[in-house]
Amino acid sequence: MNILLLGSGGREHAFAWKITQSKRCSKLYIAPGNAGTSALGQNVPISPLDFSALEKFVLENQIEMVVVGPEEPLVRGIWDYFQERAQLKKIPLIGPSKAGAMLEGSKAWSKKFMLRHNIPTAGYQEFTSETLEAGLAYLKNHALPIVLKADGLAAGKGVVICQSNAEAAVEMREMLGGKFGTASARVVVEEFLEGIEFSVFVMTDGKNYKILPEAKDYKRIGEGDTGPNTGGMGAVSPVPFVDAAMWTKVEERVIRPTVEGLKKEKIPYNGFIFIGFISVRGEPFVIEYNCRMGDPETEVVLPRLKNDLVSLFGHCAAGSLGRVKIRTDKRTATTVFLVSGGYPGEYEKGKVISGLDKVKGALLFTPELPQPKEEIASALAVG
Ligand code: AMP
Ligand code: GLY
Repeated sequence: MNILLLGSGGREHAFAWKITQSKRCSKLYIAPGNAGTSALGQNVPISPLDFSALEKFVLENQIEMVVVGPEEPLVRGIWDYFQERAQLKKIPLIGPSKAGAMLEGSKAWSKKFMLRHNIPTAGYQEFTSETLEAGLAYLKNHALPIVLKADGLAAGKGVVICQSNAEAAVEMREMLGGKFGTASARVVVEEFLEGIEFSVFVMTDGKNYKILPEAKDYKRIGEGDTGPNTGGMGAVSPVPFVDAAMWTKVEERVIRPTVEGLKKEKIPYNGFIFIGFISVRGEPFVIEYNCRMGDPETEVVLPRLKNDLVSLFGHCAAGSLGRVKIRTDKRTATTVFLVSGGYPGEYEKGKVISGLDKVKGALLFTPELPQPKEEIASALAVG
């Protein structure tokens, strides 16, 4: 079948690598893709947010499955867009409905969802500019550190951990004043959880679910997990401290109630749920949901997955995931990023990477490259 994959990151390169191993995939298109995906399929210069251009492309190229990599098209309702159009409705689209994507699209919504379904998470309160005074009063007596989160999508930058009550007050004013645009028009103030983080990936068809290999990503730039945070310097799977006892708690207390909660609330969800956890003295707490796979975690999760990914997607869309058995490679997968000196601050761009042909026994994935705005615009114009 012809498959269209949306996105341009290392996650999408890893998806493309796995999708093209399936006999079911006859042709893969990636919109817009990156240098790595162009070696596996055909990149098409369409933005994943341009639903009408995607519609035209899907119909003209007999696309039979759409796989959505990043969160933004999901939060903006690409699933619903397909459902509302007769010709698109029958094409499986891997990703949740707009309502389901709220798990990631609104921190306040996801906190309420967790409360409704008794899912363990940090205590919290939410504030808007109308309740700023109450928010500032709340911060005055809050235990330190204090976690402030912009409610909406903020490109991974919307969480600020404040070490003093005064700093938190300044941060709250800034956030509600538009620091992250409309994403911080509402702010969630959360209790700080002390512990070690890990991530769990679930594929669900809205009734059944399958658990994929877990992973842990490392965000700090320096050796030994030091220095400023980045978009992610690497990831590893499996995660040794996630033992059988932890898995039982994660599944019973979080995964099952999450999928059952979505079903009870009649929220269509045929896609991935990425659950970020903190283990606090062996007890799992949810720190976030994402409505997609992780980037870069996908680069270590998919190499450990033995199943045919296109077949899994088929079951995910058809509601028959219950019939699937996930098979996992026991070996460890690690991904390490090579970045230009200075990153995540100012760094030199435009350097050529050579010698990739000499890499043996490892997979190479290309991450999203910063592209000048004019270049994207002209690429879109060509499309
Ligand atoms: P998020 O965007 O929600 O994943 O948050 C980004 C990062 O902030 C997480 O990976 C954690 O390291 C940290 N974080 C978020 N919420 C909490 C919390 N309640 N307690 C401690 N750290 C947190
Ligand atoms: N690596 C974290 C994320 O994809 O959100």
